[in-house]
Amino acid sequence: MSQITLTSPKRLRGIVAVPGDKSISHRAIVLNALAAGEAQITHFLTGADCLSTIACMQALGVPIERQDTTVRVAGVGRRGLREAADVLDCGNSGTTLRLLAGLLAGQPLFSVLSGDASLRSRPQRRIVAPLRELGAQLDGRMDGDRAPLAIRGTPLHGGVYDLPVASAQVKSALLLAALGGDAPLTLTGRIDSRDHTERMLIAMGIDLQITATSITLHPPTTTDELQPLSLRVPGDPSSAAFWWVAAAMHPDAEITTTGVCLNPGRTGALDVLRAMGAQIRIMNEEMAGNEPVGDVTVCSSALRGTPIDGALIPRLIDELPVLALAAAGAQGHTIIRDAQELRAKETDRIATVAAGLQALGVQVEPTADGLTIAGTGNPTLLRGATLFSHGDHRLAMTWAVAALVARGETTIVDADAVAVSYPGFWEEIDRLCRND
Ligand code: S3P
Repeated sequence: MSQITLTSPKRLRGIVAVPGDKSISHRAIVLNALAAGEAQITHFLTGADCLSTIACMQALGVPIERQDTTVRVAGVGRRGLREAADVLDCGNSGTTLRLLAGLLAGQPLFSVLSGDASLRSRPQRRIVAPLRELGAQLDGRMDGDRAPLAIRGTPLHGGVYDLPVASAQVKSALLLAALGGDAPLTLTGRIDSRDHTERMLIAMGIDLQITATSITLHPPTTTDELQPLSLRVPGDPSSAAFWWVAAAMHPDAEITTTGVCLNPGRTGALDVLRAMGAQIRIMNEEMAGNEPVGDVTVCSSALRGTPIDGALIPRLIDELPVLALAAAGAQGHTIIRDAQELRAKETDRIATVAAGLQALGVQVEPTADGLTIAGTGNPTLLRGATLFSHGDHRLAMTWAVAALVARGETTIVDADAVAVSYPGFWEEIDRLCRND
């Protein structure tokens, strides 16, 4: 179990090219695997989660070669996957497991999907129930609510499914299930989660009709396959958010994160930081690979509490741990609501974030669907502590940001969890602190 001890540097300055976006990296592999032809993906995220997706797709017979952050995928077509010889190991990655469950439900193969202890404890009924409604044959522990999931792929019928939760993993699983078949599928309800799958499918030539209240996918005919899509993966805003919060909280800081994905479905953290009074500049905005990107600079700011709830939540769900930390150093109260999804992440992030903030000396109350945080009024009033990642990458990085601003020493236990989404994170901290 790795531990890292840090103290607050006098100054925190630099330019950070954040690694490729995790959601887009997964989708670039899975969708290009189904294309008719070869694609090259650059600035791919080499975090453990995305490597799990590569390994699973290779096990399903897709030739994929990776050299550092450049990946070549030789697509096998929508009907070209091969049955895997063993259990598909999704590691810690919910996105791998859920996207592949959807994809494989409609393929004429038998598949078993599993992962590490954290992934096996996360709810899967959210994909199993709608896939069963489409005619899929799949099962798992606890009547299909927990992995391992066993899937006997079969042609699915289309129809209309009303999404009860704003989840991009569920939405994408269903679109992938429909993609393998012949019947159109319409999704209604909570379609307001990140839309990377939709953007990529459209760029690959799929007939996808999107309105304010529905998404309809018409599967291509056999003569009209998915076109391969070469792309450079934009920087991950969920990784950049650690630097945004560090810069806003530290008394002498300026950090620029370059080439960050600014898809509106992912920029809720910037909206909240602005509402908290953070000084933020966005420059060099452009479109890259069907996604808006830009450089984001944040400098030392006097932060105040703000409500975080409602439609904002799906736009910043992965950033809530580090935003809770920002709230802990701010003036006044912050109430986070409508975020019960946090309980179903890599850890129960309502419980684990509350415990860490309490250790830092913050008054915080976990609620059923969020947190009520009494800001200390000044980040330097946070008291250095021993903080646990519980194997959750976003907690490890949130506590690293706490260490950059708190008084005294902070030790992060199980620090190597960062490798799931941000290889090189600790080296980057070192570099930013050395600009002293
Ligand atoms: C993801 C969607 C989000 C997010 C996760 C990645 C994706 O989960 O929390 O880290 O790539 O589709 P939801 O499925 O709850 O939206």
